[in-house]
Amino acid sequence: LENGLARTPPMGWLSWTRFGCNIDCDSDPDFCISEKLIMSMADRLASDGYKAAGYEYVCIDDCWLAPERDIFHRLQPDKRRFPHGMKYLADYVHSKGLKLGIYEDFGTKTCGGYPGSEFFLQLDAKTFAEWGIDLLKFDTCHSDAHDNKYGYPAMSMYLNQTGRPILFSCEWPYGELQQNLSSDYGPVRETCNIWRNFWDVSDHFDSVKSIVANYGKNNALFQKYSGPGGFFDPDMILAGGFGMSSYQQRAQMSMWAMLSAPLFMSNDLRDISPDARRLLLNPLLLAVDQDPMGKMATKLWEFNNLQLWVKPIVPEGSLAVTFLNTNNFGSGSPISSTADSLGLTDSRGYNVTEVFTGKNLGVLKPTSVIKTRVFPTDAYMIVCILMA
Ligand code: DGJ
Repeated sequence: LENGLARTPPMGWLSWTRFGCNIDCDSDPDFCISEKLIMSMADRLASDGYKAAGYEYVCIDDCWLAPERDIFHRLQPDKRRFPHGMKYLADYVHSKGLKLGIYEDFGTKTCGGYPGSEFFLQLDAKTFAEWGIDLLKFDTCHSDAHDNKYGYPAMSMYLNQTGRPILFSCEWPYGELQQNLSSDYGPVRETCNIWRNFWDVSDHFDSVKSIVANYGKNNALFQKYSGPGGFFDPDMILAGGFGMSSYQQRAQMSMWAMLSAPLFMSNDLRDISPDARRLLLNPLLLAVDQDPMGKMATKLWEFNNLQLWVKPIVPEGSLAVTFLNTNNFGSGSPISSTADSLGLTDSRGYNVTEVFTGKNLGVLKPTSVIKTRVFPTDAYMIVCILMA
């Protein structure tokens, strides 16, 4: 979507995978969906280095709404959990130099059963703009996926008409997938800044693996639509979660960076290991994700559950290279490859740096040999800058 936003993949925090639809603030006050939770995440983003690294949007997912619209049909947040209202929350988030994201659904109800936007698109867009919202995640539950191709563009237009820059995060064409319809990415890219097209991520490496497999399978098609203004959204980053090892967490991060994916972490920034934080803030990794060309990596091959992906980055001719090992047994795959077999074919050579260790491997020529071992459910990632 050419609205001036998402020139590189957006980064931030999103409540869903970690906090879900926990509305029980009486017995679980620190973990329920509330203004308190969102404000404390905004505090952490600003104070713990995340904002400085580019994590900008703090986003509320489902279950923030009151069960009914107000007497003027306007959306309203649950008054007990958001006692000061959304304008207040947006002002708070903005005072930290951050942006506020909110969630709605194109259908009659959200997935959690709260009032949906169907029949109220224009009014809701206006309400969000008045509150000072900066991003809208627009879900697809309780709708007929045949209508998405009308509904999402209409909402995009109404958001635009508010005059407020609001990043549009679509679950179109994920709705089509759920209802067994085919998807057309041309209109999706024109309508949305980022778009989900696959099942929800969960805090388990099998989930990450199946998402990556979908990108592998549709690599050539998806690549055509990724670039400044519009990016595929493989769903949230789970570093700092419970279900994946630190190797699996870094494998997810490296693949998301290779795909030029939005980086919305869903974790508890009040309680996160130094290891996970270091990964989330890894400057080389984030630079690959935020590369200004916004290209999606090419999958060169897969053999015995080892995959090789390469992504063009600036300066021109440079590449990020990732080996992903999806095996969950053994002691890892030994690699001994000449640089040219990884796509590093320019005789001027490349200045190569390992992303996770930060170790510089010096200047490699096409015939130089790269030796490493890729552990099970882990990735090995290097950044290769073409010599001038
Ligand atoms: C389905 C979406 O795909 C999830 O990301 C999340 O937004 C839930 N709905 C919320 O109900």
